[in-house]
Amino acid sequence: MRVLFTTSEAYPLIKTGGLADVSGALPAALKKLEVDIKILIPGYPSVLKKVDQQRSLGLIQVFANVYCELIIGFMPYTEVEVIIIKNDALYDREGSPYVTALGEDWPDNPLRFAVLSKVASLLCEVNSPLNWMPDVVQCNDWQTGLTPYYLHLANNSQVKTVFGIHNLAFQGNCHPDWAYELELNTADYQIAGYEYYGHLSFLKAGVFYADQISTVSPNYAQEIQSPMFGFGMDGLLKTRSADITGIINGIDLDEWNPDNDPYLSTSYNVQDLSGKATLKAELQQKLGLTVDASIPMLGVVSRLTYQKGLDLLIEAMPEVIALGCQVAVLGSGDKGFEDAFTAYALAHPTQVSVSIGYIEPLSHLIMAGVDVFIMPSRFEPCGLNQLYGLRYGTPPIVSNTGGLADSICNTTTQTLANHTATGFVINSVTKLSLLGSIQQALSLWQDKKTWQALQKNGMNQEVGWENSANAYLALYEKTLKAN
Ligand code: ADP
Ligand code: GLC
Repeated sequence: MRVLFTTSEAYPLIKTGGLADVSGALPAALKKLEVDIKILIPGYPSVLKKVDQQRSLGLIQVFANVYCELIIGFMPYTEVEVIIIKNDALYDREGSPYVTALGEDWPDNPLRFAVLSKVASLLCEVNSPLNWMPDVVQCNDWQTGLTPYYLHLANNSQVKTVFGIHNLAFQGNCHPDWAYELELNTADYQIAGYEYYGHLSFLKAGVFYADQISTVSPNYAQEIQSPMFGFGMDGLLKTRSADITGIINGIDLDEWNPDNDPYLSTSYNVQDLSGKATLKAELQQKLGLTVDASIPMLGVVSRLTYQKGLDLLIEAMPEVIALGCQVAVLGSGDKGFEDAFTAYALAHPTQVSVSIGYIEPLSHLIMAGVDVFIMPSRFEPCGLNQLYGLRYGTPPIVSNTGGLADSICNTTTQTLANHTATGFVINSVTKLSLLGSIQQALSLWQDKKTWQALQKNGMNQEVGWENSANAYLALYEKTLKAN
């Protein structure tokens, strides 16, 4: 089985969120299953810096006036090959792959990601510079949404496509006039095509033209077929219901391992959790909070956006502070959220800490050091942080949606008794519900024996990629057979 895995971010080359974690780990897990897999990614500066053993494959013409150099190499410390699309006019920009320093989309994003989509389709041609034709292209999110369409335009039905949805909220919609520069057939600017409410939509093209659709949890696979979670695509998704497969994300068990984490000064594991207390004290000290093991500590590592429901925590801060909790927030995103958390940190410097930015080492220390992880998302296709929480003995409080509902078992007398409890599931995305779960967690935390049992249930849960990689392989096999 040959798979081309096309993505706009992949850890450790470049990362803005969970898509990068998946793109870093899933190809490696598929490789272990003997899948012949290669990643395709734009040549941002950090990608060109980090890919090992680079070798040029020469120039390729993508559009009438766009040429790119293809470079092949390896993901750092792995045997997974990466193909880099080098075009400095499009990708030689520091910072986020999607937005300017001011947080605005790069105005040429349609071209930048149409190039990514088109190159994937060109690599499916017999005489491509790669000389390796995939059986299946695994696309990921809107940035790769035009690949199935370009294959359709090229009449290439030999190579099959699976369009992977990590987040329906990001759709890559742009003015229909882009169709000319991106060399689309304007006759397909229609409902049965890439048109979406007066826009050219990359996501819609992916959903419409792909042979199969994957998404990152079974629950989200159902949710996106309803108006509440479908972001306007639910009608189309419903018509494709039989072709949608939800596969829960795994995590990289080497990258996220409290027993061997280079970002932590000490280690711990399910047999001996004592190192976690040391790390909590270190975290408190590092953040300027009162160093005291008896103070319960809540943690957040997240994009600070409406999706993540962190406005509920902001609203609940007066009560949380009154309850005597410490709160450690790491994130960046909406200015309003950043400012609101920062105001609490300034007013309560020994109790609340806010770090604005993207800081990988601190994200590991927070995951290890805090007692409870907070993730009250309004929608969450899968979510990875709750899985990191499980692995780090940090029970999460999550909302009852998407992959959160699929991966976290609420704590009740019954689930404690049968050892399935792993966290706390709020039943509605409201401040009261969140506060209720925080209070429940705090009272359980006082009972050290029960709390440790809860931590260990989570630490023992299977959260690696093995099962899910097998499910992707089965999906690829089904895709090839079906068509
Ligand atoms: P999403 O992809 O929607 O942002 P996920 O939970 O799937 O949510 O993945 C988020 C990933 O990004 C996790 O690996 C998390 O640790 C990381 N992350 C988010 N914000 C930060 C930050 N400010 N600093 C470091 N890592 C972060
Ligand atoms: C998206 C989703 C997140 C998911 C990640 C990786 O960013 O918001 O829930 O875990 O993709 O699939």
